Amino acid sequence: MLNKKFKHLKKEIKINNKFFKNRIISSPISINMASKGYVTKNIINFFSNLAKSGVSMVTIGAAAVSEQGNDTLNGMILGPNKYLNTYFDHK
Ligand SMILES: Cc1cc2nc3c(=O)[nH]c(=O)nc-3n(C[C@H](O)[C@H](O)[C@H](O)COP(=O)(O)O)c2cc1C
Repeated sequence: MLNKKFKHLKKEIKINNKFFKNRIISSPISINMASKGYVTKNIINFFSNLAKSGVSMVTIGAAAVSEQGNDTLNGMILGPNKYLNTYFDHK
């Protein structure tokens, strides 16, 4: 339960043309579950569950734009199309 001090966090808000059902956002977390830069089912499940938790926005962590910029172990690479179009779940 949110106490009185934080009651406003439950209020919806519109920022520019974006509507948020509340003011709670999950901050970026590196879960390091990518495989060779590719998004995996584990990553999708993790962030889907966060999205269903009631927050108004989810941010992802450990996501590099380029291959050269990938500085985390098992981080995602999201720039080149080959990483956006598909994902593999290497076992
Ligand atoms: C396990 C863990 C992983 C995190 N991964 C990222 C990340 O990938 N990118 C990022 O910008 N911040 C990352 N952070 C920072 C958090 O998003 C957040 O800014 C930080 O924990 C401070 O917020 P807090 O005071 O509520 O903990 C991470 C934090 C934790 C604890």
